[in-house]
Amino acid sequence: MIATTDEDFKQLRAAGTMLSGVLKDLVAATKEGMTAAELDLMAEHAIKKYGAVPSFLNYQPDGAAYAYPATLCVSINDEIVHGIPTPQKIFRQGDVVKFDIGLSYNGYFVDMARTFTIGEGDERARKLLSATREALDAAIAAARPGAHTGDIGAAIARVAAKHRLGIVKDLGGHAVGKAVHEKPYIDNEGAEGEGDKIEEGMVLAIEPMLCEGKGDITVAKDEWTIKMRDRSRAAQFEQTVIVTKGAPEVLTAL
Ligand code: MF3
Ligand code: CO
Repeated sequence: MIATTDEDFKQLRAAGTMLSGVLKDLVAATKEGMTAAELDLMAEHAIKKYGAVPSFLNYQPDGAAYAYPATLCVSINDEIVHGIPTPQKIFRQGDVVKFDIGLSYNGYFVDMARTFTIGEGDERARKLLSATREALDAAIAAARPGAHTGDIGAAIARVAAKHRLGIVKDLGGHAVGKAVHEKPYIDNEGAEGEGDKIEEGMVLAIEPMLCEGKGDITVAKDEWTIKMRDRSRAAQFEQTVIVTKGAPEVLTAL
């Protein structure tokens, strides 16, 4: 959507503040030995307590084999996105964990993701996380009116190259605000000046994903979980922002 009215800004800010509060609490609560299903239940309760709606639950995009069955996506190590939070998925020391979550509040949709480790994590994991976080900040800085979606991909590529990490292929960000996914799509491998033009007021979910390997992906047997083909570990950070004349306004503080 393009945010124009005071009401749009007010509602989007409220939705973003709620979602970042929920995600922060979920990450803080996650401990070795817990299951992803437990965290998913907590996520659903927290969102409903605010009077908001879990937007991933029962979401069925074109081409999906079945509707997404949970509130929270939990993807561990070589899983990059859309991991299903089953009771069999148990957090282990050193795991690289991605939580991705979305909600709608009064019809306004926001989306965000974070990567963290169970315990300290090894040094390579810490580097993967800090580089992906850096890529997010660079990607957001590139989201200016008159720029193109490819400029966001180019910003991500610069950070990935600097840290000698791969970019996860075939996945990217998207517009948001009135639905889980809106056009335009934001290719994380885009090139400068290519893609759709970015306009003032656009609500965008920007989500760089970097990996320790080559970047090719594959879909797991559950038909939702997307994994790295070479089984390398991967990280993702995502925020929802509003494009403004100045720096984008971040709705979902990390
Ligand atoms: N944040 C995720 C994305 O942009 C949305 C996942 S929807 C779900 O792809 F249904 F897969 F959970
Ligand atoms: Co998203």
